[in-house]
Amino acid sequence: MRKMPKWLQNAVFYEIYPQSFQDSNGDGIGDIPGMISRLDYIQELGCNAIWVNPWYDSPFADAGYDVRNYKLIAPRYGTNADAKRFFKEAHRRGMHVLIDLVPGHTSIEHEWFRASERAERNEFSDRYIWTDSIWESTDLPCLRGISDRDGSVAVNFFSTQPALNYGYAKRTRPWMMPPDSAAALATREAIKDVMRFWLDMGADGFRVDMAASLVKADDGWRQTIALWKDFRAFLDKEYPDCAMVSEWGVPEKAIEGGFHMDFLLHFGPEGYNSLFRCAHPFFAKEGKGNIALFMKQYLASYRSTAGNGLICIPSGNHDMDRLSAGRDEQDLKICFTFLLTMCGAPYIYYGDEIGMRYLRGLTSVEGGYSRTGSRSPMQWEKKPGYGFSDSPRTYIPADNGADAPTVEEQKKEPDSLYHTVKKLIALRMEHPALQSMGEFKPILAKKYTYPLIYQRRARGERILVVINPADREVQVKADCSGQVLFSTGGTVQNGIVPACSACVILKK
Ligand code: GLC
Ligand code: CA
Repeated sequence: MRKMPKWLQNAVFYEIYPQSFQDSNGDGIGDIPGMISRLDYIQELGCNAIWVNPWYDSPFADAGYDVRNYKLIAPRYGTNADAKRFFKEAHRRGMHVLIDLVPGHTSIEHEWFRASERAERNEFSDRYIWTDSIWESTDLPCLRGISDRDGSVAVNFFSTQPALNYGYAKRTRPWMMPPDSAAALATREAIKDVMRFWLDMGADGFRVDMAASLVKADDGWRQTIALWKDFRAFLDKEYPDCAMVSEWGVPEKAIEGGFHMDFLLHFGPEGYNSLFRCAHPFFAKEGKGNIALFMKQYLASYRSTAGNGLICIPSGNHDMDRLSAGRDEQDLKICFTFLLTMCGAPYIYYGDEIGMRYLRGLTSVEGGYSRTGSRSPMQWEKKPGYGFSDSPRTYIPADNGADAPTVEEQKKEPDSLYHTVKKLIALRMEHPALQSMGEFKPILAKKYTYPLIYQRRARGERILVVINPADREVQVKADCSGQVLFSTGGTVQNGIVPACSACVILKK
């Protein structure tokens, strides 16, 4: 079993998208003092860990994933002192904080890049991936003719995000450097230096952006895995408690590389999308989904990682449609029963706990494009600006629907989605079998259909979860007797699982 910070055995994460959570100074953009003022809310919901999206200085061509200065808080969010206070206030509430690390690329406005694009050789000439001549492109999309330097430079995501140089596993051109070349190793050291900076300030770890993308032309990610092992060795030596979660989407690879956790993602293998986001998701009333698409992939990852790392199934994130798209409140309660009773660490995207909606048709804001609709201001109270901001003009328009959900209203309604999520988190905290490391075993493994039944087990405790998102009842053979710890939409009676229901049963 891999060493892991103890708190990861039972962490429930809340993802804060800083620009959309709470504005404290009326400029229409969320900020760190605002986030601090809402820590009590997150704690009350029951989450004991937080992932904060990038809060660094940036021209915001990709919402802050285009970092201009890794060691400076974006002035619109506050100051480094505010960040330090955020860590302190979170810790005071027994919460841990992961911040976003973007090691694959910077903004074109980063000083490393400005130095790198100069014609004269300097310390940063090989910090990014450049060809030898402007007439030769990189194998990746690239920028050309942007400065006096004679070469093209590879980009990692948008055109304003040049790829940092960690080398090529397979080299076919003279300008491709080995992963252990001095320049590629210098890039690693520069990122380790960034990590030290934030860990010293109080961060508990990192969510690593595009973690699989660092070494180029790397079949099977062998060199990328070796690179992350090197990062883990550095952490084990200097910051052994630093927690790491990757945006990789292939847990067996990420965990081999030393990450504690990896996300299932909306890109890469189809398993995750088959749950919530595809033509016929499993979690839908129509009941035309196929849980096998998820289960086959999940079980393979689970078997090869169990005990060594966690597979994280997020409710959503800033890159995908909101979970609520196409679902009503009951559907969402069923989704959350699943999300909060699976092993691994659950991640709740801000606002999903009240069913905030995906806003269609918005003009792109700060490189959001179709993602913009999932990034709208948090809806705290039923009033103009939703208690998010005093400004009538928020940087992304807020949901203008008369029935837009709010925290305030859902707190008053005992059976709301908010209270259901809160109850499920509390249940998880009470029962080791439901926690991150508890064993997972699907029942009905042969006949992958509705309902989904699985068993969780730890420390002599056995819990059965029965989930039927379809709006038709189903007969099951499995023994569903026991003490009902939670249910929504009814419980299993005489082998009949009600339509649109979910329940959690403690076995004797
Ligand atoms: C990740 C982030 C996404 C960003 C991209 C480039 O996928 O989650 O928001 O645009 O990387 O950094
Ligand atoms: Ca603000």
